[in-house]
Amino acid sequence: MARVALAGVRKVYDNGHVAVEDATFDIGDGELMVLVGPSGCGKSTLLRMIAGLETVTSGTITIGDRVVNDVPPKQRDVAMVFQRHDNPPTSIFVPPKQRDIAMVFQNYALYPHMSVYDNMAFGLKLRHLSKSEIDQRVRRAASMLGLDQVLERKPRQLSGGQRQRVALGRALVREPAAFLLDEPLSNLDAKLRLQTRAEIARLHHRLDATMIYVTHDQIEAMTLGDRIVVLDLGRIQQIDTPLNLYREPANRFVAGFIGSPPMNFLEGRVDDGRFVTGSLTVALPRVPRLGQMILGIRPEHVGVGSGTKFTLDLVEPIGNEVFVYASAAENHVVARVAPQELPQIGSPIALNFDAAHLHFFDPQSGARIR
Ligand SMILES: Nc1ncnc2c1ncn2[C@@H]1O[C@H](COP(=O)(O)OP(=O)(O)OP(=O)(O)O)[C@@H](O)[C@H]1O
Ligand SMILES: [Mg+2]
Repeated sequence: MARVALAGVRKVYDNGHVAVEDATFDIGDGELMVLVGPSGCGKSTLLRMIAGLETVTSGTITIGDRVVNDVPPKQRDVAMVFQRHDNPPTSIFVPPKQRDIAMVFQNYALYPHMSVYDNMAFGLKLRHLSKSEIDQRVRRAASMLGLDQVLERKPRQLSGGQRQRVALGRALVREPAAFLLDEPLSNLDAKLRLQTRAEIARLHHRLDATMIYVTHDQIEAMTLGDRIVVLDLGRIQQIDTPLNLYREPANRFVAGFIGSPPMNFLEGRVDDGRFVTGSLTVALPRVPRLGQMILGIRPEHVGVGSGTKFTLDLVEPIGNEVFVYASAAENHVVARVAPQELPQIGSPIALNFDAAHLHFFDPQSGARIR
């Protein structure tokens, strides 16, 4: 396995669109790093630059000890599982002297005429590994992924989830320096998603593999990542462990992106030991700074039963807990509480904020105020 490092990486597409700006981070040997952010924030672009499928406009990408900016994909010793709906051939960069690498791209779809076994073995045959070595690797990967029983089937005889696991298996058998996974669970149903997600986590622990995993799903990011890179509009917002991202978001974007339901935000003024917005006043144990500010509080830190009067707008029971949506004038708040008797929709409801868990953000820059 290997370390992957990015330094000042920038990507400007031919049409002038800046997809990635100044990306600098290290992925340690054996680390599972997740890239997360909303659609269009540059995740796939970053991953494909690491794979060698897109040119790097400026900055450097290092895999192991080697700067790979000009190294073709085939020689990068990485295995990639592509985002399914992605990857239009027009955006693939094929260096003129390396036409044969086009094969790498055909590879991402399973070969329909080949068995599952042969689909997984194909890349290894091309690399002239011995028959017994190939057999060993394919059977080991198949067993890890629960594909032992379907090795003789053709892709069309598989479910979507099984197909996706075959694609993963094909990456696994290569035993590359790093795995690059672009939304590998995107076309699975909810249950299979959970199962395969757990499978990837187990694989990561078992193989001690360096993995870069792209998703727009913050739950997937939180459950899988050793660390997470949060991106927005091509820029890195924060790089941290899941717990630190949750507890100490660097800015309002990260605070709102990580967590579900998202953090509540209220804009108001801090003076005299209190935060004031409209009819709402929150006593502050410590004053971060005076003046206009955005107060943030997670739904689990809002309590029901005493405190400021709100109007109950909506109740969403999800079984083990209830999401309570309430408003006071222009302020909307969601609380996440234990199942309990609640007032009728439209009636008053009292909410209180746990003062130990308040966050403050600058209304202009969005930066966290410590
Ligand atoms: N070949 C291209 N030419 C011009 N712009 C592109 C090209 N490919 C992607 N983009 C733009 O670059 C930005 C980043 O695209 P990218 O595919 O990296 O997003 P993403 O974060 O992977 O999004 P998603 O979650 O939807 O997959 C988007 O605004 C996209 O429209
Ligand atoms: Mg993408």
